[in-house]
Amino acid sequence: MFVKPAYTDKVEVPPAMEANEAARLAFEQDKGRSKHHFVEGEHPVVRVEHLNKTFTDTPVLRDVNLNVWNGEIVVVLGPSGSGKSTMLRCINLLETPTAGHILIDDQEITGASKTSINEIRRNLGMVFQSFNLFPHMTALENVMVGQTKVLKKPKEEARAEAMKQLEAVGLADRADYKPPQLSGGQQQRVAIARAVAMHPKVLLFDEPTSALDPELVRDVLAVMRDLALNGDMTMIVVTHEMGFARDVADRVVFMEGGVVVEQGLPDQVFDHPTQERTKEFLGSIR
Ligand SMILES: Nc1ncnc2c1ncn2[C@@H]1O[C@H](COP(=O)(O)OP(=O)(O)OP(=O)(O)O)[C@@H](O)[C@H]1O
Ligand SMILES: [Mg+2]
Repeated sequence: MFVKPAYTDKVEVPPAMEANEAARLAFEQDKGRSKHHFVEGEHPVVRVEHLNKTFTDTPVLRDVNLNVWNGEIVVVLGPSGSGKSTMLRCINLLETPTAGHILIDDQEITGASKTSINEIRRNLGMVFQSFNLFPHMTALENVMVGQTKVLKKPKEEARAEAMKQLEAVGLADRADYKPPQLSGGQQQRVAIARAVAMHPKVLLFDEPTSALDPELVRDVLAVMRDLALNGDMTMIVVTHEMGFARDVADRVVFMEGGVVVEQGLPDQVFDHPTQERTKEFLGSIR
């Protein structure tokens, strides 16, 4: 009888870098390829070092390294299956990395215990393609629930914050509607309000407009644009919206086959990509 051998291809990575050294190196690497305004001695808010993820025996992320700075808007592009969602899901601990390190404010979150995972997730907001709202709750309740349950905020405070965020996404007049009574675009804007109301350190977006009819995409992008340009939110956005990437991103990261192939200023990546694979990808979507 044939017995499939156990998968033994263990990935060995070095330990996480010392914080000051990591910050210095990250600054050297990123200063020319992001519009972020670097402050002397600043440390990146997110550090991804040697991130590897293997599903059964298929490597999906292969030594991904990425630093994200406070207030920076990073747009991640890449073909289907390149590992974009897996990277985001590793960053907010929905997936366990096979090897490598993720640090938020120099604190390693990989290998965290179950209790600290909840603590860590507070700092990481996520907006999904499929909204993931509670269908039996109103828009207002959806935006309140994390604040009261997770942040233990008093109800009135949570309600005020929820109304403020619903207003910011243009949905104050829909506060008492439930998700089935809202359009996809409106549901996604509620989901954004919900994420922002938690005031996370980093907001992750996984193709937030991909499930929407074209006419609803614009409103959601407008909300994201407003959030990116008029606030101090740090955002990692996986999207196929090239116009958004070009206008709003401080930096564009192109992934393929589980690796970061190229990254840089939006105009640079779009107009003068240095890698053949980036050129091909951009050519295929234009
Ligand atoms: N839970 C899982 N089990 C096994 N394989 C998985 C799992 N999740 C993702 N994969 C595989 O990992 C690879 C990368 O998937 P991922 O969802 O990260 O890609 P993506 O870049 O987000 O693609 P898309 O643009 O289609 O969303 C794919 O080949 C996928 O089949
Ligand atoms: Mg994906």
